[in-house]
Amino acid sequence: MNSQIILALLSDAGGVGKTTVAVNLAYEWAMRGRSVAILDLDSNHSLESFVGLKAESRSEKTISQIFEREFDGNWQLKQVLASEKIAILQGNSSLTAEKIASRTRREYILSKALQKFPLPHSLVILDCRAGLDLITDNALAASTHILIPLDLGVKAKTVANSIQRILTETENLELNPPPKIIGLLPNHYTKGAAYEEQFLEALGKIASKLDIKLYPPVRRWGYLKNASTLGQALKQTRAGDPLCQIFGEIVDDLEGIEHNG
Ligand SMILES: Nc1ncnc2c1ncn2[C@@H]1O[C@H](COP(=O)(O)OP(=O)(O)OP(=O)(O)O)[C@@H](O)[C@H]1O
Ligand SMILES: [Mg+2]
Repeated sequence: MNSQIILALLSDAGGVGKTTVAVNLAYEWAMRGRSVAILDLDSNHSLESFVGLKAESRSEKTISQIFEREFDGNWQLKQVLASEKIAILQGNSSLTAEKIASRTRREYILSKALQKFPLPHSLVILDCRAGLDLITDNALAASTHILIPLDLGVKAKTVANSIQRILTETENLELNPPPKIIGLLPNHYTKGAAYEEQFLEALGKIASKLDIKLYPPVRRWGYLKNASTLGQALKQTRAGDPLCQIFGEIVDDLEGIEHNG
């Protein structure tokens, strides 16, 4: 039997494209006939707007309830993107690190929920908030794999430090097996900008040193942003858009992982 992939989209920085990537990967996965759930661990409500839903005011219908002691396995997923194969669990601003700080084994609440009440989807995407806190620790502890979107506007050294922080945090959680980083995904790329080309080169060196795949850069692309604004995946608005190939490549890799471990 194929095993479920739980993919955390993680990054130290905000605005690097985690939610955009989550939505577009989910759509590609579903177009291949597979089921996918995205869990929103952020409090900024962007996931729901990127898939055309309104914010959910009832916290019991959101991710917050997963972190309640009484969670009974009713995941409250909503079908989105005009596909019965894609569902999301909406985020909630009341879910904060402080809120779960007094719990025992507080880093493992999501992981335990997913083990006790498994989701049927072959892919579960965890759309994380920026930075590492108790909530992102929960994503790390629950995940089988990690994808790190990066902004091309930062320094290569910052990226190296950021990956190191994720690796250290994962080690501290003493996970067995630990999640595997499937790749780095540079975003907001401007073709021809000299400093970005240099950065990509430096990134290539970091990636090969750490033995992590570097995906082709995602261009700063108005059509991608427009699709999010319309609450759709890029492939829904522009099926032939070349950027869709990058999401396709990541999904190819996820399928490979699913079949070969
Ligand atoms: N390649 C791109 N081209 C143009 N706009 C983009 C691209 N990638 C993301 N965006 C836009 O940049 C903004 C930030 O993207 P997104 O919300 O996906 O990032 P994030 O990492 O999830 O941010 P946050 O940390 O705030 O949750 C959004 O307005 C999105 O539409
Ligand atoms: Mg986001």
